[in-house]
Amino acid sequence: MQNQPIGIFDSGIGGTTIWKEISSLLPYEDTIFLADSKYAPYGKRSKEDIITLSVKNTEKLLALNCKIIVVACNTATTNAIKVLRSAYNIPIIGIEPAIKPAAIQTKTKKIGILATKGTLSSELFIKTSDLYTQNIEVIEVIGTGLVELIEKGKVDTDEMYMLLYSYIAPMLDKNIDHLVLGCTHYPYLTPILKKILSNQVTIIDSGKAIARQTKTVLIENNLLNPKFKIGQHILYTNGNINLLKDILSKIPVAHIVKTLDF
Ligand code: DGL
Repeated sequence: MQNQPIGIFDSGIGGTTIWKEISSLLPYEDTIFLADSKYAPYGKRSKEDIITLSVKNTEKLLALNCKIIVVACNTATTNAIKVLRSAYNIPIIGIEPAIKPAAIQTKTKKIGILATKGTLSSELFIKTSDLYTQNIEVIEVIGTGLVELIEKGKVDTDEMYMLLYSYIAPMLDKNIDHLVLGCTHYPYLTPILKKILSNQVTIIDSGKAIARQTKTVLIENNLLNPKFKIGQHILYTNGNINLLKDILSKIPVAHIVKTLDF
């Protein structure tokens, strides 16, 4: 099994922010990434729909011979990871908004969280948030429309700036000093967010932590690829191939992009 690829999926192209961290921390691992752009966004869907889509993606990655699954989507993790873990007998890694580090580091005792409706309303998120934010004010905002714009390739646009500004302004009014990006699409918005936020606000995403967690779980399960040969990376989309190619063109890791029906 050690020579088999790491399987990663997201509702769309956002999970490439996680793939990037995994491929740079684990350069000798092969990876297969699925961008389920055809069904994006997941954030507005019911829990049942999110579970059905997550099972579909996992089945596809298993059919492609993956040894471990990384759910590179907060919405899929917070709604479906329990079902996936009980249904499949291989390690499954999930991603959740990084509330804990923000709660530990905040000085103003006010943190902002930007995520999808599906994530913010999930039982798992509410439980984690309650656990770490006892004496902290959490300003949660649903990033309605952000994933849609990113999936249309409209990242660096006035429309995006205005929408983001409208979500961040109420957080700034409350004097947050940490902003948690609770969706794997959002790290692509960091350059715009930096224009909106002052230097006093730290942006936190979970990408590096998930890559470290993936490495730990591979080691624990004796699944690390023993070969010192640079990994091969294949990224599939069931949506617009040029969009995926475009977003990956800024990432200096050799890869192949293909379309696939799933
Ligand atoms: N990348 C997904 C996440 O982390 C986006 C959710 C969506 O498709 O709405 O939540």
